[in-house]
Amino acid sequence: MARAIIIGSGSEIAPTRVTNAQMARIMDTSDDWIRERSGVEQRYFATPEIAASDLGVAAAKKALERAGIGKDEVEMVVFATMTPDYYFPGCGTILQDKLGLRPVPCFDIRQQCSGFLYGLQLADAQIRSGLARTVLLVGAEVHIGFMPWTRQNFEYAIGASEVPPTPEEWAWNSRFRHLVVLFGDAGAAVVLRAAEGGERGLLGHELHGAGADFEKLYVPGTGFKHRPYTDPEQFRRGDHIPVMDGRYVFKMATTRMVEVARSLLQQHGVSPEQLKLVLMHQANKRINEYCARALGLREEQVPHNIHKYGNTTAATIPLLWDECARDGRLVPGDLVLMVAFGAGMTWGASLVRA
Ligand code: ACO
Repeated sequence: MARAIIIGSGSEIAPTRVTNAQMARIMDTSDDWIRERSGVEQRYFATPEIAASDLGVAAAKKALERAGIGKDEVEMVVFATMTPDYYFPGCGTILQDKLGLRPVPCFDIRQQCSGFLYGLQLADAQIRSGLARTVLLVGAEVHIGFMPWTRQNFEYAIGASEVPPTPEEWAWNSRFRHLVVLFGDAGAAVVLRAAEGGERGLLGHELHGAGADFEKLYVPGTGFKHRPYTDPEQFRRGDHIPVMDGRYVFKMATTRMVEVARSLLQQHGVSPEQLKLVLMHQANKRINEYCARALGLREEQVPHNIHKYGNTTAATIPLLWDECARDGRLVPGDLVLMVAFGAGMTWGASLVRA
């Protein structure tokens, strides 16, 4: 049976860098609070003309180039995002068109911070079953669309306007401060290719989903549960902005990520010290430090990039993969574990021989 190998990766960071101090110009927060509680030091946001598909396309081009794959060779697209360009269609076909790919099957994945791992398992299954030999897997997000501030507030934050927020705007932005300081915009992609024989490839996955507590992290408005699915009243209430019980999510993330990592490693007879790298979703540096300690990992096994980009949701794990592949921390043959937890609730892990 063929195995799927990651033969190339690429990433694209949104253009507008925003530091914690700049965030503190438009809401009641501080650089110290954000750094200490989350590990985020800055993030990048997309400008108005950039959608998730654009970041995905830019990342995919680099991934295809590094993989040495022509666009006609791509046989399937899988696109993970929770911030799609449109309610429908999903970003998969939009990316297919923008990249000029053949009219191949295009899947959209909606598993938030676990989206990349769900996509990886799907791509792996397609390759193992012989349905596709080359799959383009993309994760991309433009979280700025659900940020509470006005355009003018944002321009004030980055020094492009001299008009500070009104007291009402300040209070409104501050209502969401626990959430909005965490996210940033980026896209990342990998190319997966079938290979027979050899040790390299995706070795296994373990995915979970449990909806009982979905309201601990979700967007209450703009869904078809509402009639009509969106209206000015929902926006007035702020129902288009995610609700997050941070402490609950923190506890669930630390518990589930450790559990699923241990379980997958055990299934494959791999001990934590045998891993070259553990690529954890970057939602909060403290979550990952806790998981690393619980799994008995050494510091050099657990790369972080949350300080630079914040939480980039579905883009996070391929972005971290791409950074490590480009700076030499990750080379072909390395044993790598990827672990994530996200809204849904969803969580999972994948084991890969790079
Ligand atoms: N700046 C300053 N103060 C703040 C901020 C802020 N940005 N946000 C919250 N605070 C205040 C709170 O109001 C609270 O004040 P109080 O004590 O006076 O009531 C205090 O800080 C502590 O708040 P907590 O929410 O208890 O802080 P905590 O240490 O839990 O950190 C955080 C909050 C960063 C959100 C953390 O809980 C977390 O990271 N949770 C997990 C997030 C996550 O993993 N999300 C999932 C991924 S996203 C996805 O799947 C889409």
